[in-house]
Amino acid sequence: MEVIIKKDYSDMCDEAVRLIHQTWQKGENLVLGLATGKTPLGVYDRLIRLHREQQMDFSDVLAFSLDEYLGLPDNHSQSFVFYMQQNFYQHINIKEENIFHLRGLPDHIETHCREYETKIQEVGGIDIQILGIGENGHIGFNEPSSSLSSRTRVKTLTQETIAANAHFFHHQDEIPRYCLTMGIGTIMESRMILLLASGEEKSAAIQQSIEGPITASVPASILQLHPQAKFIIDEEAASKLARKSYYKWVYEHKDKVDDFLAKKRKRTD
Ligand code: PGA
Repeated sequence: MEVIIKKDYSDMCDEAVRLIHQTWQKGENLVLGLATGKTPLGVYDRLIRLHREQQMDFSDVLAFSLDEYLGLPDNHSQSFVFYMQQNFYQHINIKEENIFHLRGLPDHIETHCREYETKIQEVGGIDIQILGIGENGHIGFNEPSSSLSSRTRVKTLTQETIAANAHFFHHQDEIPRYCLTMGIGTIMESRMILLLASGEEKSAAIQQSIEGPITASVPASILQLHPQAKFIIDEEAASKLARKSYYKWVYEHKDKVDDFLAKKRKRTD
């Protein structure tokens, strides 16, 4: 696990995009896991800009979405299929057949979830999973008490989430009560995980996830076990961290190991 603290939201998104671009440059078919919500929007904007201005090619990139509301058709303005199309896919040259969504109206929920997991395995797993975090520490729709080894499945939304969503829907009976989400076990199999958080309202969840015990009560705390999990957060989200200056120190020095060793060798020559 690595904690990367950036000045503000913009710098945070720049850092996430730098890591994605770096992996893409290695030239293998990049497999992304992508989150919705307001936090990753700056990352998608920057990737679109890289595509337009520096010809970042997405034709070999594959993308899986993290979650979806159950009951919404793909073209519903609140579906995550719609969000991903509007905010990212329609602006880049990703191939239609390389985009994988959890669907709001699957014929059979369990088969759909199982096939989604199988597809992730078939393409060789997710290289980079982008995550936001809820104020209660959730990742994807894995709310507190979700099994830390869960797989893609149906979940019941919390009363808070249902209430918070109500104003996005015209009719009461349209408001989602269930969702599909990659499980925490599924997320943990990604090679690299970039969890993004911005703003003071995320600071308690960030502190508990990074410095608290690993517990199903704070689902993001499981990332402490992942060797390539990076919390990329702004100063406000980092404000409650007890070891904030230590994380900054480590980040500032981590790419200087080679220089350090070279100097030492020179002195002993
Ligand atoms: P947000 O959502 O990016 O809109 O804050 C994150 C989440 O709830 O997972």
